[in-house]
Formats: sequence, structure tokens, C-alpha cells
Amino acid sequence: MDLKPYIRVIPDFPQPGISFKDITTLLNDGEKYKEAINAIKEMVSELEIDVIAGPEARGFVVGAPLAYALGVGFVPIRKSGKLPYETIEVGYDLEYGKDKLAMHKDAIKPGQNVLIADDLLATGGTIATSVNLVRELGGNVVGTAFLIELSELNGRAKLPDISVFSLAKYDY
Ligand code: PRP
Ligand code: MG
Repeated sequence: MDLKPYIRVIPDFPQPGISFKDITTLLNDGEKYKEAINAIKEMVSELEIDVIAGPEARGFVVGAPLAYALGVGFVPIRKSGKLPYETIEVGYDLEYGKDKLAMHKDAIKPGQNVLIADDLLATGGTIATSVNLVRELGGNVVGTAFLIELSELNGRAKLPDISVFSLAKYDY
């Protein structure tokens, strides 16, 4: 699938120099949104997946429908302070800013095969943090999947031992 016609690129948002990839235009198109999720499902069809994990907020709109399509569970990775039960937390640097991500301690059963899904791979900070959280809970990360990858930011370098799948690549 050629995803790019459905992605709106906004220059200098949220700050100068950032070329924001706006997926709301894709989400708005029911047919293309479904096609994109099905295309990711195809890309990861070789993997054995027990559960999908996705980081708040945009990871939910990719990870949850993918989990539904695969018939597996979905685990939210949330920003600090949002999850009500006992959590583990890891801090990280973003393409713009800093944050902390958290998971419920019992969200992953040790040994489960986990695919981590998000809308976008930029510097890789979010996904590497998500990988660390899942591994800390004993999960086996079988791959990561994205709608979009910003190749020049080289997020893949933060995931040296993990399969990375993306539908569309931009330089930055
Ligand atoms: C964006 C995007 C990815 C992350 C990619 O999330 O949705 O999760 O940045 O950047 P990285 O590879 O450099 O970490 P953001 O933290 O802006 O929050 P949101 O998903 O809640 O909008
Ligand atoms: Mg995000």
C-alpha cells in the first residue's frame, strides 16, 4: 500500500525544524485506515505474536486495531501517572522533549511473544523504552511495527537485535 497520499505533512510543528507526519488524515478515511492496518498485519504474518503492546497515544490507534485483526490482546504503554495498578516506569528522551513510560506489572506474562506497534519511528526513543519495559516484565519482543519510519533519524540503531517493519519511509 502507498500510504503517503493519506499522510499530511506539517512543516515546523510542534517546533521549527520538525516535519510533522499527521496521521489524522489517514484515520479519517475508513477504507484506507483499514487497508493500512491490514498491510501491517501482512508484514508481520511470519511472526508468532501472543500480544501487541503500543505506547500512548498514537500507538493505540495502530496497536489496538492490529491486535483486533490478529485476535490477540492489547497492552497499553502509558505516560507516567495514568495506570491505576502497580507499574514499572522507564524515562526517555523524545525527538522533542522528555517523558516517562509505564506498564502494569502484570501486563505481560513471562515468555509471551510481544509485537510493539506505534505510528512512527523517529529517533527510536519511544520504542526502545517500550522494548525495555516489555523485557523487564519478561516478555519476548518479536518485532516492532510502524506506519511511518523517518530513516535519517536512524531509530533502527536503537533496536539492533529486533525486526523493524514500516509501511512508509520519509528521510526525516
Ligand atoms: C510520537 C510518535 C511516536 C514517537 C516517535 O509520540 O507517536 O510515539 O513520537 O518519536 P521517537 O522515535 O523519537 O521516540 P509523542 O511522544 O509525540 O506522543 P503521542 O503519541 O502521545 O502523540
Ligand atoms: Mg507516540
